[in-house]
Amino acid sequence: MAILLSDSEFVTIQKLIFREVGIDLQASKKLLVQSRLLKRLLFYKFDSYIDYIRLVQINSAERIEMINLITTNETYFFREIDHFEFLQNKIIPNHPFKKKFRFWSAAASVGAEAYSTAMLLDKTMARSDWEIVGTDINTEVIKKARIGLYPQKWADKIPIELKKAYCLKGKGKHEGQFLIDRGLVENMDFRVGNLMKYNAEVGEFDVIFLRNVLIYFDDETKQMVVDNVLKNLKVGGYFFISLTENLNMIKTPSLKSVATSVYQKIK
Ligand SMILES: C[S@@+](CC[C@H](N)C(=O)[O-])C[C@H]1O[C@@H](n2cnc3c(N)ncnc32)[C@H](O)[C@@H]1O
Repeated sequence: MAILLSDSEFVTIQKLIFREVGIDLQASKKLLVQSRLLKRLLFYKFDSYIDYIRLVQINSAERIEMINLITTNETYFFREIDHFEFLQNKIIPNHPFKKKFRFWSAAASVGAEAYSTAMLLDKTMARSDWEIVGTDINTEVIKKARIGLYPQKWADKIPIELKKAYCLKGKGKHEGQFLIDRGLVENMDFRVGNLMKYNAEVGEFDVIFLRNVLIYFDDETKQMVVDNVLKNLKVGGYFFISLTENLNMIKTPSLKSVATSVYQKIK
């Protein structure tokens, strides 16, 4: 017999996810939520979603499992190439090399955005001159990002000279995968972080990518998340959102637009 998620159970999950992560789950996502959470019901041998909801309400470890299943983590290397070109041609050459260049991938998923940037930085700077932090609410993607092992077809988007320099083709049990150069991996810091709060512990950055995550938030949450993230941006630093996102409905008096979906902090 199929186990169905009722409308009222879905509303309870909507509220829980909104409170914890800020994601505004639309009604159209009900079936998706039902199917993504089904494996946890089967794991616990529950025969209704309400039993599972009661569990996540009292068990923080299971709440993390639920968040891991609900978040959408699509990403790829050099996604929205214009941004990487801007980074390479306009930002990196103008960086005063006296200080460490710090980059934050603020919704890092499995790390493709962070490693794409790492390759560009490492090509032109000494390894000790740059630092990358990647954060995400999803504990599973952060584990994957720390390992840096991807399906071989993901390498198609990586420019050939960077692929040669930083991607190791897997052999034996890693056939069909590639591994990011261990030197790069060791220079990165991937950690679990929630954009709903100010992440003071990660410090200040020259560049922050907050791409393809604002779409999941309502305007009020967007404002809060952007305000939080901008506290970590140095004056003069750059802030990127996705080419398919905008800041139209929120207030960002400290930013000036410098290219499509690229902003500079001016005060
Ligand atoms: C679609 S991926 C985008 C990945 C990457 N930035 C890119 O553009 O390819 C969105 C990521 O945002 C994360 N996320 C969603 N809500 C979050 C929150 N409140 N705090 C931190 N990360 C969050 C998800 O777990 C997911 O990995």
